[in-house]
Amino acid sequence: MSGRDSPGPSEVLETIRVSLTNLFSRLALHPDQSASKVIPDLSFDGFLSHWKSNGFKKIVTMVGAGISTSAGIPDFRTPGSGLYDNLQKYNLPHPTDIFELDYFIENPKPFYALAKELYPGNFRPTPVHYFIRLLNEKNLLVRHYTQNIDSLERLAGLPEEKMVEAHGTFHTNHCLECGLEFSKEWMKEKIFSDTIPLCDACNGIVKPDIVFFGEGMPDKFYDMPAEDFKNCDLLIVMGTSLEVYPFASLVGHAEPNCLRVLINRTSIDKFGSPTNKRDINFIGDCDDAVWKMAEALGWSDELKALIKKEGSKFEKPKVRTSDNKHNDDKKPKTSREVPQSNQIEKKS
Ligand code: OAD
Repeated sequence: MSGRDSPGPSEVLETIRVSLTNLFSRLALHPDQSASKVIPDLSFDGFLSHWKSNGFKKIVTMVGAGISTSAGIPDFRTPGSGLYDNLQKYNLPHPTDIFELDYFIENPKPFYALAKELYPGNFRPTPVHYFIRLLNEKNLLVRHYTQNIDSLERLAGLPEEKMVEAHGTFHTNHCLECGLEFSKEWMKEKIFSDTIPLCDACNGIVKPDIVFFGEGMPDKFYDMPAEDFKNCDLLIVMGTSLEVYPFASLVGHAEPNCLRVLINRTSIDKFGSPTNKRDINFIGDCDDAVWKMAEALGWSDELKALIKKEGSKFEKPKVRTSDNKHNDDKKPKTSREVPQSNQIEKKS
């Protein structure tokens, strides 16, 4: 992240450059486009029926915290439930300081306390994550750009090369002083034992490679969009306020012929002006939108089966009740069904 919630001069210039390029290419190369819409009906239903009858070939997805709220992870800016409204216990001068590099160096405790609460592994992917995986398995996904640091895309089985984790990840960690790398397991042990992670070599603070305000984005974020958005015919933006730059400026990379669909609980001023020719707004829940897309495309059963199959990986072993113990006792036992002495039994 480049260090603030509003665009800095370089992002403003980049946004203007992309907008002008799009404008000129529309006027010069696509004279018809200046008059006509990319699809005839710019409603969500119009989009669904276009997808069903014409298809899309190259899809880019761009997401934020809203795709993970149904997993139980709060977003950042929703009044009341958003993370930035619920950090009082950390006594921060300003809520976003929890991700501010200068503040972190002075006082890393609040970040590590929050990291313990939100540590990847405690939450399951949502239907949105599995829908994105399905897009990839159908060879429709060019790239998935995420601001999220919850690793739910990885857990849902989206290959790393198909993702740009724009705000970094908990998977790698580095010492802020000497740059020494530390493993995910090492960091997890420190976080869960409430120990500030200090470098074995120089005693500097070790930080997960998530991108704080004031830090640069990963190279992939800068290297990939030019190619990814070339001939991309559908951009799906889900669960983000598009408040943080330069991530938000990615929407400007979509060429004039590319349909852009925003799926979000709240509308966003900068997306879909009344005179636009290619923007669609679905104001509502991401999971609902994804089920609607799956249904329109005839993918519902496939999506349900994928969620069921993958969900079983997260299921905890069932607690045995006295009833099922009684029934189990009647069945012959295979070597995999030998009861374990430490299993909890519910008293009847
Ligand atoms: P925000 O909290 O700014 O925006 C999330 C958006 O998702 C809001 O507009 C919500 O209305 C919407 N939303 C929430 N739940 C939803 C649901 N179930 N279905 C549809 N929409 C839903 O979060 P981001 O845009 O991701 O940086 O924030 C961007 C960055 O700001 C984050 O990456 C974070 C923060 O500073 C770091 O963590 C480093």
